Amino acid sequence: MQDVTDLAFMRTLARIGSLPDLFVTAYFRSTPTTCAIAEANLRCIQENETGVPILAQLVGSESAPLMRDAERLLQLPVAGINLNAGCPSPLVNRHGAGAELLRNLTALQDCLQGLRRVVPEGMFSVKCRTGWADAAEFPAILSEISAASPDMVMVHGRTRKALYTANSVNTEPVRMAVKHLNCPVLGNGDICTVAQAHEWMRTTTPAGVMIGRGAVRNPYIFRCLRGGAPPSADEMRFYFHVLIEETNRILHTKRTPAGHCNRMKKYLAFCYEDFTPEQEHTLRRCTNISDMQRILSEASAPLT
Ligand SMILES: Cc1cc2nc3c(=O)[nH]c(=O)nc-3n(C[C@H](O)[C@H](O)[C@H](O)COP(=O)(O)O)c2cc1C
Repeated sequence: MQDVTDLAFMRTLARIGSLPDLFVTAYFRSTPTTCAIAEANLRCIQENETGVPILAQLVGSESAPLMRDAERLLQLPVAGINLNAGCPSPLVNRHGAGAELLRNLTALQDCLQGLRRVVPEGMFSVKCRTGWADAAEFPAILSEISAASPDMVMVHGRTRKALYTANSVNTEPVRMAVKHLNCPVLGNGDICTVAQAHEWMRTTTPAGVMIGRGAVRNPYIFRCLRGGAPPSADEMRFYFHVLIEETNRILHTKRTPAGHCNRMKKYLAFCYEDFTPEQEHTLRRCTNISDMQRILSEASAPLT
């Protein structure tokens, strides 16, 4: 997740002993003139000492730049290339990329086929939503994806129109992808607890699940999914403590007290529910990292 599941977060997961099987970078924007090789994303690849493989994600609307940038990223220690066909950002969609590909199947086909040609066997994956406005669009999207023979597909069970609205995840298209594709399919959308992950596995039968915001709120979810104990309040306090240290490390010389707090607020945006309204109010306005540290040291155990 752009600006959230960054190198500091990856290092934090390693230090608290709760790692997923696979990471995916936030997207690199691929355009005819440039590949915006965002430094923060690049660091996730080059300085990944977690032992967990990482996929480099590209967002774009034309095969030639995507192929050029995939070849460049494949020179780095990545486990594969992932095409983003789900980003709902108006800025990205205006350029024909992300979820916009879901309503321009000719462009989707061009991007998929182009990347398939340059990405080696076993290393090409696609992340998509279930449609632009309606999940009824999904069978046609699935057929384009299937024709490119990707090695893995991640499906976020929402349309572009649904953005991130509550209770809008539809697992039916994901089940359809599991049934029709000849590759592993990961289910994604609103998985915040072990019970929800198990429910996805039982009812939708994907090869696995992809967890975004839920892992920022409860980073111990990966440990729990491997049969480990739910986090105690002390462990949550340790998480925030490590995250403060790791953000300090990545910000390095560019750090100012307010800048460090702002960086922390990118993660805290997904954690406020577990704080009292007064704590949330103070955290949102914090410009001093020691004030933030004091409130975070009062954190309680999250919902598991
Ligand atoms: C702040 C933010 C940034 C995101 N950035 C990306 C991204 O760069 N690439 C991507 O594939 N998905 C991105 N997503 C979408 C998530 O990966 C995920 O598909 C979505 O949040 C639903 O899953 P979740 O409920 O587990 O978070 C982002 C989501 C958020 C909230």
